[in-house]
Amino acid sequence: MRKGRSHAFLHSANKPTKAFVLLALSYLMLGILFGLLGGIQYILPGFLKDHLSFQQTRPLHVYLVISWIFCAAHAGIYYYLPLISKRPIFWQNGVWIHFVLQSATSLIIISGFCAGYFGGREYLEFPPLMGLFIFLSWVPFAINFFATLKPNFKTAPVYIWMWSTGILFFFITLSESYLWLFDFFRNNMVRDITVQWKALGSMVGSWNMLVYGTGIYIMEQMSGNVKAARSPLSFFFYFLGLTNLMFNWGHHTYIVPAAPWVKIVAYSISMTELLLFGYIILQWRKTVSGARKNYHLLPYRFLSFADAWIFLNLVLALIISVPVWNYFTHGTHITVAHAMGTTIGINTMLLMASIFYILKTENVFAFQQNKKWVSRGAYITNLALVFFWSSLLASGVVKISGALHNETFFYIMQKSQPFFRIFTYSGIFIFVGLGVLIATSFRIVMQKKQSETIIIRKPKSVSSSKILDFND
Ligand code: HEM
Repeated sequence: MRKGRSHAFLHSANKPTKAFVLLALSYLMLGILFGLLGGIQYILPGFLKDHLSFQQTRPLHVYLVISWIFCAAHAGIYYYLPLISKRPIFWQNGVWIHFVLQSATSLIIISGFCAGYFGGREYLEFPPLMGLFIFLSWVPFAINFFATLKPNFKTAPVYIWMWSTGILFFFITLSESYLWLFDFFRNNMVRDITVQWKALGSMVGSWNMLVYGTGIYIMEQMSGNVKAARSPLSFFFYFLGLTNLMFNWGHHTYIVPAAPWVKIVAYSISMTELLLFGYIILQWRKTVSGARKNYHLLPYRFLSFADAWIFLNLVLALIISVPVWNYFTHGTHITVAHAMGTTIGINTMLLMASIFYILKTENVFAFQQNKKWVSRGAYITNLALVFFWSSLLASGVVKISGALHNETFFYIMQKSQPFFRIFTYSGIFIFVGLGVLIATSFRIVMQKKQSETIIIRKPKSVSSSKILDFND
């Protein structure tokens, strides 16, 4: 039987998506590798100390995993834009300029970190000049987004509002995060800390807009229900998300002597966003018919995992945002649990749903052949994340109780060791689970596309030459 083999995965118009998917997955692979090295350094402080210390592995890890989130969102948006607008991408070369600028900037930043060059602030620890290149790399993306879509905001569904806001606020928050270069900010500690944390808190809001928008778009495609993304509830959620983006950063600055009302407003606002998004996914899951659920089983499963993590992280966020409790939890591993619980459990799961939705749409045969591995990778990651997240919470609690009982730092660290070990061992499993998902995605992307082959089951009496190939 001849199996019909046609052109490779993703036709030429979709080459940029392929490039961005592969770049995003490479960020993730490298990012979790450095995370793992950092995790090993938790329990073996001397590990690689002279070549790649924790002061290097941590920024490398954080820079790469945040790049994964942005880049995977870009990949999805580049893929969805022509489908939504029914027009080709406005400026094809612009996509490649974006790709080259972004890859080159990342290469310089990663080599710089490995060689010990720093010079920025927390989370953006590279020299400020690199921030300018990041800014510039986003310009062609923004042009392509608005010029391809030509959005009519009066009728646009909520995900277009979310993506537009995410792009706009990325430029604003990235610029704000470099205000410390001016003496007016740098010479006043309160002003400096407030502006810096406001910028970074809102930047998280901007990537959430891109990622949640992507989640809502694929939910619409999977359920076939176009009303939900235009419903008043979705828009109410959007405005709430926007309010969060603009004001919830206040919960990062409880330590700063700012006006009390800032803390109260920040606390009240920061609780609402996750609650509503969790509710939206829950409602959506009820509307998906059994047949569609089966057809899109794996992307659907990633969305369900994201939903579960939303609720777990919501409970945690509720606790750590109470100002008096935040005073104790701030700077402990409870904050790290919050950061990784949301970026792995929510953002990464939603982006995996988007990537596998694209891969399935483009090459259903390759997807079907590999789906067992996708499922295994997803289960390993999420199960390991439960232990990973809980161990971070537990070491945070040990630190707080030690501080309340005036225990020495050495004694607190000794008591935390069992939890650090659980953290690192479960981190190895997250690495394996995500590694399986990354390797499977690479395999699907590289696999040739099979044209539809219909095999009429061979009756016992019929020779194999009678098996019909639809391409014949
Ligand atoms: C998709 C995968 C991952 C994402 C998105 C992610 C995200 C993050 C983020 C945002 C931080 C900064 C936390 C903070 O400043 O509070 C962080 C820190 C860290 N992550 Fe991950 N992470 C991932 C996977 C892993 C894995 C598999 C390990 C392996 C053990 C790991 C180990 C670490 C370590 C050691 C830190 C530094 C914590 C500290 O400062 O004490 N991460 N990660």
